Amino acid sequence: VGELEHFSHSITHDMRAPLRAMQGYAEILAEESRESLDQTRRNYLGRIITSAARMDRLIIDALSYSRAVRQEMRLEVVDAGALLRGMVDSYPNLQPPHARIEIAPNIPPVRGNEAGLTQCFSNLLENAVKFVEDDVVPHVVVRPEIRDGRVRLWFEDNGIGIPTELQPRLFSMFQRASKKHEGTGIGLALVRKVTERMEGEVGVESEPGNGSRFWIELQRAD
Ligand SMILES: Nc1ncnc2c1ncn2[C@@H]1O[C@H](COP(=O)(O)OP(=O)(O)OP(=O)(O)O)[C@@H](O)[C@H]1O
Ligand SMILES: [Mg+2]
Repeated sequence: VGELEHFSHSITHDMRAPLRAMQGYAEILAEESRESLDQTRRNYLGRIITSAARMDRLIIDALSYSRAVRQEMRLEVVDAGALLRGMVDSYPNLQPPHARIEIAPNIPPVRGNEAGLTQCFSNLLENAVKFVEDDVVPHVVVRPEIRDGRVRLWFEDNGIGIPTELQPRLFSMFQRASKKHEGTGIGLALVRKVTERMEGEVGVESEPGNGSRFWIELQRAD
């Protein structure tokens, strides 16, 4: 176990312990003073509890980011189409009636790492079905664009879109454009980091109200 690995483990452990104490005692307090506290004060307690849970989420996500940065990333030939179809098949959230996801049949094999690509695809698909208006069924199309020796995989959604000025920032840690939806803002940072380690690139095109088109470009493997 490397020094850095040890460091992030102890940080996680040591940070989460007091946080859990805060959460636990706030819950006890809320429980025991349900009668004696007025609405406003119960509301304060509720906020303490949600904030502690959010902090906990941030710590866990930051740790998983630092793991992804350090994990071994051996490059191999990956059938990206099969990987994507497998993911859609195994997550009910990505299937009707929750969402409609179409994976193009002609996605060529790419040079990448299967675990790394799984992380990238799951984050992009998760985002594509999350950032939609309330009454819209998410519709996502994944299709390849062949560019000499490389493959650009497009993830096109019918979601809320992203203002141009916010787009460059979204691939950095903790950057979020929509306060309405849950999340910690680590997913796309992870996607970029992992893709770079597979010698690839990421990007996005989008207009508010007109959906987003995220892409990952990798080396073609056939
Ligand atoms: N498909 C999309 N449509 C519209 N906005 C998006 C889309 N994908 C990402 N975004 C915007 O980019 C921000 C960053 O995305 P990212 O995946 O890093 O964070 P998150 O989804 O909020 O949280 P996390 O993935 O860590 O749970 C999001 O908060 C959202 O504002
Ligand atoms: Mg996300």
